[in-house]
Amino acid sequence: MPDLSTSYLGLQLKNPIVVGSSGLTDSVEKIKNLEEMGAGAVVLKSLFEEEILMEMDETIYSMTNRHFVFPETMDYMETVAKEDILMHYLELISDAKKAVSIPVIASINCVSSQKWVYFAKEIEKAGADALELNLFFLSSDSQRGEKEILENAFEIISRVKGNIRIPVSLKISSSHSNLIRLVEHIDQAGVEGMVLFNRSWLPDIDINHMIVSSGFVLSSPSDLGNTLRWVSIVSGRVNCDIAASTGIHDGAGLIKQLLAGAHVVQVVSTLYINDLFQIHKMTDELSNWMIAHEFESIGEFRGRLSQAKSGNPAAWERVQFMKHFRNFV
Ligand SMILES: Cc1cc2nc3c(=O)[nH]c(=O)nc-3n(C[C@H](O)[C@H](O)[C@H](O)COP(=O)(O)O)c2cc1C
Repeated sequence: MPDLSTSYLGLQLKNPIVVGSSGLTDSVEKIKNLEEMGAGAVVLKSLFEEEILMEMDETIYSMTNRHFVFPETMDYMETVAKEDILMHYLELISDAKKAVSIPVIASINCVSSQKWVYFAKEIEKAGADALELNLFFLSSDSQRGEKEILENAFEIISRVKGNIRIPVSLKISSSHSNLIRLVEHIDQAGVEGMVLFNRSWLPDIDINHMIVSSGFVLSSPSDLGNTLRWVSIVSGRVNCDIAASTGIHDGAGLIKQLLAGAHVVQVVSTLYINDLFQIHKMTDELSNWMIAHEFESIGEFRGRLSQAKSGNPAAWERVQFMKHFRNFV
């Protein structure tokens, strides 16, 4: 049997399938089940920066005066925030660590480098193997220029990394005007990994009631292309590890991302749409494909189709673009 093990954020994984942050990872029972179904690692459901600040005895007034915390989020927080959210989160980490042997990665959804960063230390103390920061940029926010966004990202990473020793990864959205600059900036800030990409909330419009509603929460396999493109571009240009996320639904999607240069893939939607057995199916497909192509380990082919390996990345992208439209008759 080929060796499916891989390293991600300096952690040793038995295979490259990481179950992404979602409701699939919000309890110890679910995490145990994911390990039994073959997951290589899990990322816990995110805590929100606002939840952490809320429990730091901040008044709503002072929070709404913070630069990057949106007043509207406080309306939401008033209805959902419970005193013990943070304690439950720390318990989830430490109980999950006792229950499973796969890496457990905590997750925080953040917008600023405010006082919440102290909580990263608590996450580390609870035993998390790593911390994933889901960085929320509102791409429609015209008040924040590119320089400000880069500085904010750098500040968050520096402050969090200054507080903890466990590896840190950054999860970003692909809606950014100069993505490659952001990616290089994040890499230089010293993160151990990068998750490409978060799936943004998508709106829909209810035409009967003429109100804005939520669009599809789950991705589809057709979402794979954007992730594949950027993993292929970024791989070889950064020092940190890359987790491909969004649109990976089957073994072929997994293999494509590894060929493009990903160290691991994160999966969520496919496990909701199919079931957890999909993890086994994907690792089986990877194994069979490696046997057919006479690969004994992932390192033998990872990144083989990244842009960096193409010699002239700009020309490579141009050629792919030309081929794409020429062949479509
Ligand atoms: C129901 C659901 C809940 C999610 N919750 C979180 C979350 O708490 N934190 C986070 O960073 N991402 C969250 N995500 C995003 C996923 O981790 C993932 O980035 C996204 O779904 C794209 O991967 P996929 O195509 O495999 O679904 C959630 C996704 C879904 C579908």
